[in-house]
Amino acid sequence: MRVVGIIFSVVIGMVSVGFGGGGLKDLPASGKEYDAVTGREIYSNTCIRCHGIDGKGTMGLHLVPKPADLTSPGIQSRLDASLFKRIHDGKPNTAMGAWSTALSDDEIWDVLAYVRTFRQE
Ligand code: HEC
Repeated sequence: MRVVGIIFSVVIGMVSVGFGGGGLKDLPASGKEYDAVTGREIYSNTCIRCHGIDGKGTMGLHLVPKPADLTSPGIQSRLDASLFKRIHDGKPNTAMGAWSTALSDDEIWDVLAYVRTFRQE
């Protein structure tokens, strides 16, 4: 019942913004969208050699610990901010380096957008 109430008020909110905001300018869908296509390029240049083409990490099997399986629920259930920080700062005592030295923040977000495409349904 509460959920229905929330949905109801969201719908009402959208309707009233839709009708009430008549004087406001239409803007092109803005806001930064992180780009999994750019991310795929970065991934294949920098991450693939350890995490593999499918993200399962099988290419770096000789490493200890071996590269994370990026398709796993354990990784995919983590928040963006947590994964961003990992890619940015690296993981101590593993081969996972701090990519902030090679990639800009935007590039890290792009590559994370690509990593998210490994999520299994
Ligand atoms: C030199 C090999 C190597 C490269 C290159 C590499 N990684 Fe990793 N990565 C690892 C290892 C090793 C781990 C740690 C696995 C563990 O802790 O069990 C890891 C862990 C991770 C994790 C999980 C971190 C966590 O908190 O458990 C993510 C996400 C990740 N890598 C993403 C990336 C991305 C994105 C790139 C490319 C920008 C990349 N990695 C490049 C070796 C690598």
